[in-house]
Amino acid sequence: RGDPRLKGISEAIRVVPNFPKPGIMFQDITALVSNHKVFKDTVDLFVDRYRDMGISVVAGVEARGFIFAPSIALGIGAKFIPLRKPGKLPGEVISEAYELEYGNDCLEMHVGAVEQGDRALVIDDLVATGGTLSAAISLLERVGAEVIECACVIGLPEVEGRRRLDGKPLYILVGPR
Ligand code: PRP
Repeated sequence: RGDPRLKGISEAIRVVPNFPKPGIMFQDITALVSNHKVFKDTVDLFVDRYRDMGISVVAGVEARGFIFAPSIALGIGAKFIPLRKPGKLPGEVISEAYELEYGNDCLEMHVGAVEQGDRALVIDDLVATGGTLSAAISLLERVGAEVIECACVIGLPEVEGRRRLDGKPLYILVGPR
């Protein structure tokens, strides 16, 4: 938390009030990733943390987890696998439904993408209620992977100070702007 790079990361997040609907303070990471230094600092912080933890798979959550997870996977020498919204993966999948503020959504994972004994890191841009990450954890555990940690760039106040999610460690770089 004391790392000087975190200030630049936090300042690069743009808040868009009332997007995509009234009352939501949208945390926009597009400016963060279009600044090479800040994007690299973000990836480096994760790579430094996970490089020696024996992680074999980095699972990215659609859509904005895909912006960070592949770079982290390459940096630590792990495979990348996408956790996708329903109907996007062509092969056999397992699915996990989760609750949103209004309604439900679902994540899917290719059967065979992750093997028993894989050591998994779950990456997303942001955690709010934790519902999305919980679904990701379930998918990975259902095929026998061990979820070592979940990590996000931004953690909303609902989860700030929370160090764990479904019993798994939760790592957050910055709070909301
Ligand atoms: C956002 C965000 C996380 C999720 C966090 O995704 O990117 O995936 O919500 O919320 P939670 O902790 O309450 O589950 P969104 O549903 O907007 O999908 P998108 O990235 O495909 O736009």
